[in-house]
Amino acid sequence: MQKKIIETEVSIYSFDELETSQKQLIEKAKEQVKKAYAPYSKFHVGAAIELENGEIFAGSNQENSAYPSGLCAERVAMFFANAQYPDIAVKTIAIAAFTNGSFLSEPISPCGSCRQVLLETEARFEQDIKFLLYGTNHIFQIESVKQLLPLCFEKSSLNG
Ligand code: THU
Repeated sequence: MQKKIIETEVSIYSFDELETSQKQLIEKAKEQVKKAYAPYSKFHVGAAIELENGEIFAGSNQENSAYPSGLCAERVAMFFANAQYPDIAVKTIAIAAFTNGSFLSEPISPCGSCRQVLLETEARFEQDIKFLLYGTNHIFQIESVKQLLPLCFEKSSLNG
């Protein structure tokens, strides 16, 4: 028997340490929580995506009375961006969440289904997507979806 330890690299920053463009993308994600439709969970999520051509697309979570029909902010933003620019790679995604009157103190991380969708976009454009995960205490920066989804199922898995 062998064991393998899989590590995830996370860089932890204060907001002030970030570059201006990173701060702007986070501000966009924070603004976007106001547009969430989350009457059931009251958990408002915003995601902002910067494409390689500099365009920015934002999305918020969209809930539904039939709960599984709703969609997370990350997938709303990602599908929106990919639908508008099917040939342009995604550079960075910033994510923020607001509930009970304030932004979360610890960074919010995308759910498993969103990670799978983001992985597809990363593979599709053969370019790593950077994450900026916002919390009021600190920001996590992660260099690729692969860091968040080790042992993933991907296109090549279909070949057996
Ligand atoms: N949600 C997101 O939009 N993104 C995440 O990363 C986690 C969860 C949404 C789904 C649902 O509308 C609400 O937050 C509570 O789970």
